[in-house]
Amino acid sequence: MNIDGRAWRTIWLEEGGRSVGVIDQTLLPHRFSTRSLTTLDQAAEAIATMVVRGAPLIGVTGAYGLMLALQVDPGDASLAAAFEQLNATRPTAINLRWALERVRDRVLPLPPSERATAAAAAAAAIAEDDVAMCSAIGDHGLALLQRLAAERPPERQHEPLNVLTHCNAGWLATVDWGTALAPIYKAHRAGLAIHVWVDETRPRNQGASLTAFELGREGVPHTVIVDNAGGHLMQHGRVDAVIVGTDRTTRTGDVCNKIGTYLKALAAHDNGVPFYVALPASTIDWTLADGLAEIPIEARSPGEVTQIQGLALAGAAAAELVTVQLPPRGSAGFNPAFDVTPARLVTALITERGVAPASEAGLRGLYGLEATCSEPSPAAKVDQ
Ligand code: MRU
Repeated sequence: MNIDGRAWRTIWLEEGGRSVGVIDQTLLPHRFSTRSLTTLDQAAEAIATMVVRGAPLIGVTGAYGLMLALQVDPGDASLAAAFEQLNATRPTAINLRWALERVRDRVLPLPPSERATAAAAAAAAIAEDDVAMCSAIGDHGLALLQRLAAERPPERQHEPLNVLTHCNAGWLATVDWGTALAPIYKAHRAGLAIHVWVDETRPRNQGASLTAFELGREGVPHTVIVDNAGGHLMQHGRVDAVIVGTDRTTRTGDVCNKIGTYLKALAAHDNGVPFYVALPASTIDWTLADGLAEIPIEARSPGEVTQIQGLALAGAAAAELVTVQLPPRGSAGFNPAFDVTPARLVTALITERGVAPASEAGLRGLYGLEATCSEPSPAAKVDQ
């Protein structure tokens, strides 16, 4: 996607494949800076500290992290240890385990001397598949948005279609395009008048920092709102649809996404607003049936709740990124990073294979009866 007229992806190979380039998302939107990851430890740290984040991008970074580990030591013990180290960085997004398993299963049968090269090819394939899947999600979502826009009453036809999104499920969360934002980008490029309500998404503000940054660079009209405003806007008819991403989706259609997603789904349900979840196959955990009981919810540092980062507008630190304390020092903070929205609150899932009900029958209808957690869904197999 575009930054100042230049097309970017979120992750790329450098130095003939001995280094992995990423955008440092902890500094956005006020600083655009890239980082080079040259070791397994650096890749693991980039995921854990959210230099890179978003379920699909975490997976691709993990895959390249295995490659970096195998460049140093391609033995079985090194592979197993690197897998465990990377897999432990963030527990909720299933894309991480999915991508690590895909690389491990590709290289394990090979002699050690061939493993690093094979891991690089496997990681690159995961990245390319992600781009293709997100683009296809965008195509299916575009058709859905065009239908929603056309079905509005005549007196509302002149207004832009108002879509609310939570967190960042745009290109910064993937390799390119995004999941929830892909239909929005495709709609904007197709000339559909669209406006996005951007939840700021406390505590880390991925909406205010990242989604607003992305949409602004692509020229998509948007407005940042506090997380508590969504229900009010829905009650007053100012939201035509909600589209969010997901970090793990059970085979029964429960979706786990950034904390606060569940409250948006409740408000949407109460107000008759369609609530869509956009996801690639790599986000489906076919082993799980009950999201609330079975999906591990990452608990992050309370400091993310009690402190906030922003750009100083005045004073000695003007134009610097500063961190300030919010509650009294000593007040405890609690920071569950994700919540589970039950399938019954999800209008439909938007996948690379089409739009389906959030149910086991809906997902099996798209992916088949034999689909499993580790099954890749490469672009070549996408049914359009
Ligand atoms: O904690 P984050 O920023 O990694 O959480 C990201 C989200 O919750 C996204 O909505 C999700 O990964 C879907 S991304 C396409």
